[in-house]
Amino acid sequence: MQNDLHEANRLSWNAATAAHNSHKGDQGAFFRNGGSTLYPEEIELLGDLAGLDLLHLQCNSGQDSLSLARLGANVTGVDISDEAIAFATRLSSESGIAATFERADLFHWFEGARARGAVFDRVFASYGTICWLSDLGPWARGIASVLKPGGRFAFIEFHPFAMVFDETWTPRYDYAPREPISEAGVGDYVAASGTGLAPDGYEQGVVDFRNPHPSFEFNWGIADVVQALINAGLKVECLKEYPYANGWVGFEAMRDSGGGRMLPPETMPSVPLMYAIAAAKPDATTQVSAGKRSEANIRPYRAEDRDRLVDIWLSASRVGHPFLGEERLLAQLGMVRDTYLPMADNWVAEVDGRPAGFIGLIDRFIGGLFVDPEIHGAGIGRGLIEHAAARLGHLDVGVYADNASAVEFYRRRGFVETSRQETDDEGLPFAVIHMARPS
Ligand SMILES: C[S@@+](CC[C@H](N)C(=O)[O-])C[C@H]1O[C@@H](n2cnc3c(N)ncnc32)[C@H](O)[C@@H]1O
Repeated sequence: MQNDLHEANRLSWNAATAAHNSHKGDQGAFFRNGGSTLYPEEIELLGDLAGLDLLHLQCNSGQDSLSLARLGANVTGVDISDEAIAFATRLSSESGIAATFERADLFHWFEGARARGAVFDRVFASYGTICWLSDLGPWARGIASVLKPGGRFAFIEFHPFAMVFDETWTPRYDYAPREPISEAGVGDYVAASGTGLAPDGYEQGVVDFRNPHPSFEFNWGIADVVQALINAGLKVECLKEYPYANGWVGFEAMRDSGGGRMLPPETMPSVPLMYAIAAAKPDATTQVSAGKRSEANIRPYRAEDRDRLVDIWLSASRVGHPFLGEERLLAQLGMVRDTYLPMADNWVAEVDGRPAGFIGLIDRFIGGLFVDPEIHGAGIGRGLIEHAAARLGHLDVGVYADNASAVEFYRRRGFVETSRQETDDEGLPFAVIHMARPS
């Protein structure tokens, strides 16, 4: 993740959000009078929300969040912008519609949510979100980690193909460029879109807004998005494309085909301007054979697994890393519980309804693979590796050289030594062998 660029975007969004809201009139009254800022496409994608816990990613000033709360959801909105979250919190109280708003960089928020075991039935993001995120891996994994098993992610976004054109519809830019695009700052697209983005009537507000803070965008392609969700273990159930953009007048001579669905001029062929994805978190995931005992289910980590996983870590470390000594292992225990587990993407192998082992992944790096010594040799470790490889392809790991059976275990699974360091990450005199397994 590129923290510095996210931070620059926070400043730029703070300035732009104030300008955007200056055009939208008395929004408290709009909501008190029963107003909603949602379009039919997102309502259809989300389905019935009554009584569900919903996380709204990059909620900006909360207008859509409050519209979703009005449909019966318990809404938590997260956004990096101080101005947007302050506005959303005020709007919730002025409108009398309850919702929770939290200011944070999404990636940091996901880490905290994982640590405190927050989970949701629905996660939602819409219109102009991922183009502000420097990496889709933590985004998709964060979504997967806070969804309840069986929960769904609903996503609607402007189409990356549209970003190939300049304002005059001339193809000018690469599709899904790999580098961030630096801009003069988040613009006043609300002013450019008139009533399309100010449903209660457009007010003049700030005139000729110039953002003093530059911004940085990341134009992800459709394959980038879909693959990130698949890699995070989500099941993509629906992918739709639309030949219009809801409310957004991003190009010249766009025409409203009704209800704010903006089309290109009639002289142009149709092009995709929006797309939508619905992806579900499977209830239970892979089943692997666990020797004579029974099958093991591999499933995402839940907060209530924590103490059992720490016990597995300690008992497996006593067997695999006796050279570290009991005192050091006990000293590391708090770090494993409070730092390593919350920061990793953890998958748990469950035998007879009880965690028997787990793998903790940091991107493609295996931060930890531990199996209850009572069930060693039953195929649990192998199952966890294959499960991670099926999702991520290439895997990396660092193994203590003194743990010869672990080095051999990884060799047998196709890992090859790439380098060796003579001390471990804490600078202790225990050599670590770095190994990799290609996709
Ligand atoms: C175009 S707006 C999304 C609007 C949204 N559809 C709504 O309901 O109003 C993009 C939002 O992403 C937020 N954002 C940008 N980078 C972020 C990050 N790293 N973490 C969280 N929010 C971020 C911005 O502050 C902005 O509010």
